[in-house]
Amino acid sequence: MTIPIKDKIGIAKMREACAIAATVLENLKPLVRPGVTTQDLEEAGRDWIARLGARSACYGYQHGSRRYPAHTCISVNDEVVHGIPSFKRVLRDGDIVSLDIVVSHDGYIGDNAFTVPVGTVSPAIEKLLRLTREALDLGVKQALVGNRIGDISAAVQQFVEANGFSVVRDMVGHGVGVAMHEPPEIPNFGRKGTGDKIRAGMTLAIEPMVNLGAYKTKTLSDGWTIVTADGSPSAHFEHTVLTTERGPEILTIPRPVSAQASA
Ligand code: MF3
Ligand code: CO
Repeated sequence: MTIPIKDKIGIAKMREACAIAATVLENLKPLVRPGVTTQDLEEAGRDWIARLGARSACYGYQHGSRRYPAHTCISVNDEVVHGIPSFKRVLRDGDIVSLDIVVSHDGYIGDNAFTVPVGTVSPAIEKLLRLTREALDLGVKQALVGNRIGDISAAVQQFVEANGFSVVRDMVGHGVGVAMHEPPEIPNFGRKGTGDKIRAGMTLAIEPMVNLGAYKTKTLSDGWTIVTADGSPSAHFEHTVLTTERGPEILTIPRPVSAQASA
């Protein structure tokens, strides 16, 4: 499958969708504290998406015969991605929570995620979050015109494994645009110089998922939640990036919300 190249109008619309996705995500961060439920975060996310004039691309998203039942994905501790928010899931001091926001606006989709600590976390978990964030930065830096997708994959994997953590293999980053998942797949493991050539005008969701323990995962019986097989904590950081002749540009940058817009 050929990788879609966005034209000027497509890029402008991607900018808008991505700015909204990032603004929603940013506004959820201050709500994360002990005692809050993942359903509280879901409702805040749902409301921010509506307030910013977008739709959740997750709500009703079809996978096989199932439809995703929430507007956000909220994954706690050993949950890697696609955690379903619940009023029964109360965040505790020392937890980590991954927030993944995908919005659709004017026919285009913005996708981003990050993991935040709840209260005070252990030094090992602090390191997991910092390294996953850094792995994302290193991956983004490889999204250069003329490079290959495998250059992104290899940069992420080498850095993560050199630091003693593992990269999830069952889930991958992806192109994003008019659909949530477009070609190419962007694994967080692989070899330099392999995969599709990167050209200007691609919009790529780069998203390392890093486990404190082993890389293996499994899916819970709800059909969505991916957890680490060994129960170790997992972190996830994601940006949507535009490739340009001048280098990668991160599109999922939050905008200040004016007092008026948030009233
Ligand atoms: N960022 C996630 C992904 O790219 C969002 C999935 S939405 C869901 O897979 F509906 F599948 F949960
Ligand atoms: Co994604």
